[in-house]
Amino acid sequence: MRVLGIETSCDETGVAIYDSEQGLLADCLYSQVDIHAQYGGVIPELASRDHIRKTLPLVKEVIEKAKLQAGDIGGVAYTAGPGLIGALLVGASVGRSLGMGWNVPTIGVHHMEGHLLAPMLESSPPEFPFVALLVSGGHTQLVQVKTIGDYTLLGESLDDAAGEAFDKVGKMLGLPYPGGPNVATEAELGDADRFHFPRPMTNRPGLDFSFSGLKTFVRNTISEQSDGNGNLDDQTRADIARAFEEAVVATLIIKCRRALEQTGLKTLVIAGGVSANSRLRARLQEAVSKAQGELFYAQAKYCTDNGAMIAYAGCQRLMAGQKDDLSIIAKPRWSLESLPAL
Ligand code: KG4
Ligand code: ZN
Repeated sequence: MRVLGIETSCDETGVAIYDSEQGLLADCLYSQVDIHAQYGGVIPELASRDHIRKTLPLVKEVIEKAKLQAGDIGGVAYTAGPGLIGALLVGASVGRSLGMGWNVPTIGVHHMEGHLLAPMLESSPPEFPFVALLVSGGHTQLVQVKTIGDYTLLGESLDDAAGEAFDKVGKMLGLPYPGGPNVATEAELGDADRFHFPRPMTNRPGLDFSFSGLKTFVRNTISEQSDGNGNLDDQTRADIARAFEEAVVATLIIKCRRALEQTGLKTLVIAGGVSANSRLRARLQEAVSKAQGELFYAQAKYCTDNGAMIAYAGCQRLMAGQKDDLSIIAKPRWSLESLPAL
């Protein structure tokens, strides 16, 4: 089956075509980062309007790139949630309309299921069952995955998501939006031994996370270290970025190790924007190898939002016979555990 996937849940318009026999055929991405950068964060109304401008042209582009015609598409998948309601409605309306026009089935995909399954696009994908650490701008979750759609939430963030914490710290340090990759680049120049930040919620049992206290710790350190004009010197900025990144990575590793022990599983999958972080990947690789386990992640461009993961997840569900009715589905909040198993 050949499925067109459409992602418009936040600030990236992603469109891709996945074929169950041949794999990913083509993939196009347009990032709105330049639009939102001037405001230091995503402006939902501007995001929706830009998705309207970009979605259909990208659909045309991806079909051409795959050297196909519209009649070659057997199904349409779109992100139905969670995300920004206006942004979701664009992809959902376009997806449902294309399905109706082409007379093919459509399916609304859960954005975090898309992330969770993105490592399946790689040449050596993980095998079920596994533990997944989902770390994006909106979610930090540990999930026990028995098969596609059979998800048990083991723990999640009680406040800020890991990516959100990266973005807010980036802003506090005066780095451009989005903070995550810029904090990571800055951290490369930093000294790991100058500051030590807390590893939140690691000294008590459980698999939940909390990053807002760490964020406050960063804010206090910045004000202590700033000069009379509120400025940081370059080395101190890099040292703070490094200490923050070390604290997030160490916290995530402790919880992942705990989740593997608790479930008795050996395979760990990391997904979502923060799983592109090199230090997180390298440190988790060490920790998982030490425990004779295996770590899987997608290539960096499929860690952050993209259409390929939606095309893949939608293809699996459509092949299992699931499809939408005639309504246009967009759910800003949507629990991963409520999905039907395949
Ligand atoms: O999955 P994603 O593209 O969108 C959501 O579903 O939220 O994740 C975006 C998040 C942002 O917070 C971004 O700053 C963060 O992922 N991110 C990173 C890195 N690349 C993206 N955080 C840390 N290190 C990175 N290299
Ligand atoms: Zn995402």
